[in-house]
Amino acid sequence: MEKEKGLFYIETWGCQMNEEDSEKLSGMLRNIGYSNTEDKEKANIIIFNTCCVRENAELKVYGNLGALKKLKKENPDLIIAVCGCMMQQEGMAEGIIKKFPFVDIIFGTHNSHKFPEYLNRAKQEGKSIIEIWNEEEGVVEGLPIDRKSDVKAFVTIMYGCNNFCTYCIVPYVRGRERSRKPEDIEEEIQSLVKKGYKEITLLGQNVNSYGKDLVPLLSFSQLLRRLNEIEGLERIRFMTSHPKDLTDDVIDAISECDKLCEHIHLPVQSGSAKILKKMNRSYDREQYLELVKKIKERIPGVALSTDIIVGFPGETEEDFEETLSLIKEVEYDTAFTFIYSKRKGTPADEMEEQIADDVKHKRFNRLIDTVNKIFEKKNKEYEGRVVEILVEGESKTSDDRLMGRTRTGKLVNFYGDKSNIGKFIEVKIVKSNSFSLTGEEI
Ligand code: SAH
Ligand code: SF4
Ligand code: F3S
Repeated sequence: MEKEKGLFYIETWGCQMNEEDSEKLSGMLRNIGYSNTEDKEKANIIIFNTCCVRENAELKVYGNLGALKKLKKENPDLIIAVCGCMMQQEGMAEGIIKKFPFVDIIFGTHNSHKFPEYLNRAKQEGKSIIEIWNEEEGVVEGLPIDRKSDVKAFVTIMYGCNNFCTYCIVPYVRGRERSRKPEDIEEEIQSLVKKGYKEITLLGQNVNSYGKDLVPLLSFSQLLRRLNEIEGLERIRFMTSHPKDLTDDVIDAISECDKLCEHIHLPVQSGSAKILKKMNRSYDREQYLELVKKIKERIPGVALSTDIIVGFPGETEEDFEETLSLIKEVEYDTAFTFIYSKRKGTPADEMEEQIADDVKHKRFNRLIDTVNKIFEKKNKEYEGRVVEILVEGESKTSDDRLMGRTRTGKLVNFYGDKSNIGKFIEVKIVKSNSFSLTGEEI
């Protein structure tokens, strides 16, 4: 290890894909002698890892970038780097440099492994560097990774997306589907287990199409069964499952493999067949409900979560009510709810019948009321039960409780000894609300 060179600060917006890229950036920087700081003002390098899935995500980046101008003025040696999905959009990097000329380095999602090189160049050349690639040089393996938790880890099994849902920018900024080799995934998980990790979440925009690009072919369910054999690993989760690709063999694997947790994230997006078609989701309401029925039959006690968009172009009051009725029928344990946001370059951006903001907001509020009542009902079912949780760490509540999760992904806060962190313990659920459970150690 070289001697301490300085401090870096990384701010990450967006999904687990960006989180993982930031963990790798952090790992690379540590490898060349930098340490992490949570305090922007003390940092020698500031990295913003951006998301562009909705307009809000982009607005946050602009606001935060503007605020850096003062820091750069006070410390001209400060290196400011901007990366992530937002930068993969055409013309974005140039626009950022124009608006914020004090930015030193801009790079994209396909070349973040090159960051140390760009950093050197920026220091030597003293001018802004823009390096955006349209695709990567194959899957890059072996990067150091500086993980946030010591208990559970996210492991990406595939990159990119081929689905092109008409509202979504992800396929344009993350490229086509690329699967990692099963040996590489296994090796990474084995080394995590050796370090004491108990739970792994396999990541991909659509994990069910894992392996379709591999020679020899390997299906997602085959991968799951292989990973289930890893000794010392206790829990396996995965996300995201696209309903059109969640096949019987995956459902069977979950019901038969002891490490696979009884929780499926199954984004529905809308309950209206007409809107689903316009979204290019490749399933209709009936097919989705059939799938849910099958999952519930084959995996008793399964928890289901989802993503829902309101206000997609052409969504009528009836379409929206179909979404509400589907939610009530499925009874999700959790849901991520979004207001449709226009994204340049996506087909939905060009569609007629865009929904007025006030209508979107009113529907969104009704959606929130509906989902919250269901979450509350689902969580109440846990009251009085004894459940096993994996203790992840300190609770985010203001008291000094700890938190852990059930196999079904329920968040449990409880008073307990910190020596329990990283262990499986049994707790009795004594209280519940829409978003969490309160437990007592037994
Ligand atoms: N690959 C995953 C998640 C992709 S992004 C999947 O297919 O489910 C996460 C969620 O953001 C999506 O599921 C969708 O609900 C939401 N989303 C994507 N684009 C959006 C847009 N333009 N406006 C509003 N929500 C959007
Ligand atoms: Fe976006 Fe659809 Fe791909 Fe998910 S499956 S990332 S929503 S295009
Ligand atoms: Fe955002 Fe990129 Fe994820 S656009 S949601 S960070 S893949």
